[in-house]
Amino acid sequence: MVAEKPSKKLFSVTLRVWRQAGPAAAGKFVEYPAANVNPDMSFLELIDVVNDGLTVKGDEPIAFAHDCREGICGTCSCTINGKPHGPGHGIATCQLYMRSFQEGDVITVEPFRAKAFPIQRDLVTDRAAFDKIQQAGGFISVRTGAAPDANAIPVPKEDADLAMDAASCIGCGACVAACKNASAMLFVAAKVSQFGLLPQGQPERDRRVLAMVQTMDEAGFGNCTNQYECSAVCPKNITHDFIARLNRDYVAALFRTRFQPVSNAGGGGG
Ligand code: FES
Repeated sequence: MVAEKPSKKLFSVTLRVWRQAGPAAAGKFVEYPAANVNPDMSFLELIDVVNDGLTVKGDEPIAFAHDCREGICGTCSCTINGKPHGPGHGIATCQLYMRSFQEGDVITVEPFRAKAFPIQRDLVTDRAAFDKIQQAGGFISVRTGAAPDANAIPVPKEDADLAMDAASCIGCGACVAACKNASAMLFVAAKVSQFGLLPQGQPERDRRVLAMVQTMDEAGFGNCTNQYECSAVCPKNITHDFIARLNRDYVAALFRTRFQPVSNAGGGGG
């Protein structure tokens, strides 16, 4: 005889959500009670359920961004109870489950707040500033054609591991939202380091760091003042050590480009 599984204890919460009809509209918090919450629901599934109720009543559903719902794409960004991606550690909002909350909780949900991330509607922000930074140098230029063998260029294990850590950045913007200066240094540091640590990233190393930092500054992000709130909320646990690496790369690139044009600048050095 198979023992019956104990049923999950359902509970009730109140969502206190930032509603804003458009970029120029005034916003405000609106409360939505949610009953029969299953602890194994994801946070985004709870918003889905609340939105179903709003739609049935003929009200406008809460606008929120999402795609993979697996912690990969970085689109589900919002601040929950004052913390980007909510109370979990090393997870994106889509990986947050309702078992993190209790009966009667009032959960405040708002968009990431930063001048460089203008609010589009409700919880949705425009994070195109990150795309511009990427376009400024977050790539390597290689000839297409016959791909070399994967192991033809030896890469030290430690460098490969660090490059992989940096490459795990999903560009969600939590680092910016958590920083009192709305600094994008952790994001830029990860995107610069993932190439700067590998041999393939050396030819454009100086040009890359200078262009990405300049684009970051032009986009209106603030400076880093070493508070490290960024790495504390990063869903991929990217460490602020990469910011020190970025600063070293930037200073070295500035120094080298005093003696040769940026367009011909080669990288190198540790
Ligand atoms: S929806 Fe893709 S990371 Fe959350």
